[in-house]
Amino acid sequence: MIKLKTENLTKRFLGLVAVNKVSFSMEEGEILGIIGPNGAGKTTFINLISGIIMPSEGLIEYKGTDITYMPAHERARRGIARTYQLIHPLENLTLIENVMVGSIFAKGHGLREARTKAEALCHELGLTGLDRDTSRLSIFEIKKMEIARALANEPEVLFLDEVMAGLNSDETKDLIAMVQRIALERHLAVGVIEHVMGVIRELTHRVIVLEAGELIAEGKYEEVSKNPRVVEAYLGGGTV
Ligand SMILES: Nc1ncnc2c1ncn2[C@@H]1O[C@H](COP(=O)(O)OP(=O)(O)OP(=O)(O)O)[C@@H](O)[C@H]1O
Ligand SMILES: [Mg+2]
Repeated sequence: MIKLKTENLTKRFLGLVAVNKVSFSMEEGEILGIIGPNGAGKTTFINLISGIIMPSEGLIEYKGTDITYMPAHERARRGIARTYQLIHPLENLTLIENVMVGSIFAKGHGLREARTKAEALCHELGLTGLDRDTSRLSIFEIKKMEIARALANEPEVLFLDEVMAGLNSDETKDLIAMVQRIALERHLAVGVIEHVMGVIRELTHRVIVLEAGELIAEGKYEEVSKNPRVVEAYLGGGTV
């Protein structure tokens, strides 16, 4: 079942077309990789879908409803969640409070309910020491905290924007397994932006490739990584 789709989604910033007529869809249970060189428009695409910014043109549909210009909080309430490339723990809050924020804002849960749920999520993700200040957390813990906060939204669609960046190989392995389990158990559609192609290869069922705002290729990682246009897009910016 298609959970989310866009048609000709476009975002212009003054003269720059950051996202250019992108049409795509995501199905329930699917882990979709969103790849492309730096500045390709990946984060902007997720910002459009989560409602942080509004498109210049095009359509976004979620579970059959047009959400193109719906406010971000309403999209979150309906089940679209994401993590941020630039991690931003709320610094005056503890680990558990950072996770609680997810369900308080998106779902309107009371404090007690939000805490119970946040504790369960932290336990599920292997987070301990829940009353620690965020300044005491490792990068790995912060990344898991960000995922827990997104899951507190009870999402049906989840976007992870470079959630593996900065992790060592053991942590990356752990997080890949965690994301796979989370997606499977919750029947989520997950969109994964990553620059590390080993992660994309292991984690995703399908990928889309953006270059200069345009969707230039789509398919299984093994096929797409051999596509001459994709190889060309990455030349100079790293290998596929
Ligand atoms: N708010 C903004 N105002 C103006 N230009 C922007 C804005 N946000 C993004 N851009 C530009 O849009 C383009 C796409 O940026 P975006 O952050 O979406 O790329 P990305 O694919 O996520 O890159 P990276 O892999 O480096 O994270 C870039 O040229 C960027 O400078
Ligand atoms: Mg980005």
